[in-house]
Amino acid sequence: MDSAGARGPAAHPPLKVALLGSGTVGSQVYRLLTEQSADLQARAGAPLQVVGVAVDDPAKQREIPVAPGLLTTDGLELVTRPDVDIVIELIGGIEPARTLLLAALKAGKSVITANKALVAADRAVLHRTAQEAGVDLYYEGAVAGAIPLLRPLRESLAGDDVRRVIGIVNGTTNFILDRMDTSGADFSAALAEAQALGYAEADPTADVAGFDAAAKAAILASIAFHTEVTADDVYREGILSVTSADIASARSLGLVVKLLAICERCNGGITARVHPAMIPRVHPLAAVRDAYNAVFVEAESAGRLMFYGAGAGGQPTASAVLGDTVAVARNLQAGLRGPDSSTYAGLPLVPIGDAITRYYVQLDVADRPGVLAPVADAFAQNGVSIKDVRQEGRGDDANLIIMTHSAREAALAKTVSVLSAMEAVRNVDSVMRVEGVEGE
Ligand code: NDP
Ligand code: HSE
Repeated sequence: MDSAGARGPAAHPPLKVALLGSGTVGSQVYRLLTEQSADLQARAGAPLQVVGVAVDDPAKQREIPVAPGLLTTDGLELVTRPDVDIVIELIGGIEPARTLLLAALKAGKSVITANKALVAADRAVLHRTAQEAGVDLYYEGAVAGAIPLLRPLRESLAGDDVRRVIGIVNGTTNFILDRMDTSGADFSAALAEAQALGYAEADPTADVAGFDAAAKAAILASIAFHTEVTADDVYREGILSVTSADIASARSLGLVVKLLAICERCNGGITARVHPAMIPRVHPLAAVRDAYNAVFVEAESAGRLMFYGAGAGGQPTASAVLGDTVAVARNLQAGLRGPDSSTYAGLPLVPIGDAITRYYVQLDVADRPGVLAPVADAFAQNGVSIKDVRQEGRGDDANLIIMTHSAREAALAKTVSVLSAMEAVRNVDSVMRVEGVEGE
C-alpha cells in the first residue's frame, strides 16, 4: 500500500447544513445528524455540520433540544448565509417554505425537502431554479415517508415505461379505514382513535379529504410519466363519504375499502386520481394495515413491483431525508448535480370522465315486479355492462348491489343520474369504484 493509501483520503472540510423546522420530522433529522455524525461523515465523505435551525417559536420546550446558539427565527438569513451548503426544509405548507427554498436555490444551496404540498404545487419552478443555479433538489421523504420510491422511479426505472402506479400513500386514512373494517368502528370513532395515537392531526382535513394523497399522486405521476403534473390536475375524493355500511357490504363481497392514489396511462395520456375504492381481499394492497403505505408500480419490462413500509412518522421520514442529504453531499464533493426528473413526454391529462374502471352500485328499490328490467336497462343504455347483481329484501324495498365490468367514468355517472330519477329507485345509497380485479 502506498503512503497515500495508508493515510486514507484527505478529510473534506465540513458541509454546512441549515435546517428549517424542528418539529416531528426536523427534530429527528437533527438528532440523527448529531448522534450518527461519524457514520454519516464516512458515508457522505465529509462531516455534515448543522449550523442553524430555524423554528417558529425558539422558546418552545423541545423533546430533542437544539444546541445553544443554533436556533433562529430568521429562516431567510439562515438559508442565504454564504457558508451554508445544504438546506433541509421541514416546515411544511406553501409559505414561507416556498420563499425560503427559492431563495436558498438562487443562493446556490442544494435543497432537500419532504414538503409534498409545495412540491406538488410548484415542482416545475423549483426544478427550473435548481437547474439554473446548478444545485440539487431532492424530496424522497415527500411521498410515502421512509419508502424508497422516487429514486427507484426516477433512476432504476429510467429505462422502462411505467404503465401504472397504484398505492396507499396516506397512513392516516389507511388507519381509519382499517379500523372501520376490522373493529366495525364508524368514521368518527376511527378518526378519534387515529388522533389519539398521533396519526391524524387536530384538523384532519388534508388527510381525510384526500389533499395529502393528491399531492403525492401528482409527484408520482410527474416522475413516472415524465410529465409535469400538479395537485390541481389530480381528481380527488376523500374518505368522508365512506360509511360503515359500505365497509360491511365490501366485506360481504370479499372486498375491502382503501383510499387509493392511481396514476395510469389512458387513451394516449395519463389520469391521476385519488379516491376510495373496493379491492379484493386477496390483492396485496388489501394486506396493508394500520398506518402503513404501499405502492404498486407496473412497468412494461419490469412487470409488477411493490414498495411497502412506514409512510409517515418523524424517524421513518428522517431516514429518507438523510438518504437525500448523503446523496447531495456526495454530489457536492464530486462537483456534480444529481439526475433531474425529466418532463420531456408532456403527456396530456385525461379528464376523469374518460377514466376506466369497475363499479359497485348499491340501490334501494321498490320490491315489486318489473323493477329490475328498467334498472338493468339504465346500465345498458349507457354502455355499462353488468357483471353481477345481488338482491336482498327489506320489507317493501329491496337492496340491490350491482357490480359492473370496466366502464368509462362518464358512462357510469350518466347511469347513476338516470337511476336517481327513476320512480322505482328510492335511493342510490352508494357508488364506489372497484380496483385490482384481474380480467373481466
Ligand atoms: P411539524 O409541524 O411537526 O414541524 C414544523 C416545524 O416548522 C416546527 O419546528 C416549527 O417551529 C417550524 N416552523 C413553522 N413555521 C416556521 C417559520 N415561519 N420559520 C421557521 N420554522 C417554522 O411538521 P412535520 O415535521 O410533521 O412536517 C414537516 C414536513 O415534512 C411537512 O412538509 C410534512 O408534509 C412533511 N412530512 C411529514 C411527515 C410526518 O409524518 N410528520 C411524513 C412525511 C412528510 P416550532 O417547532 O417552533 O413550532
Ligand atoms: N399525514 C400523512 C399521512 C403524513 O397520514 O400519511 C405523511 O405524509
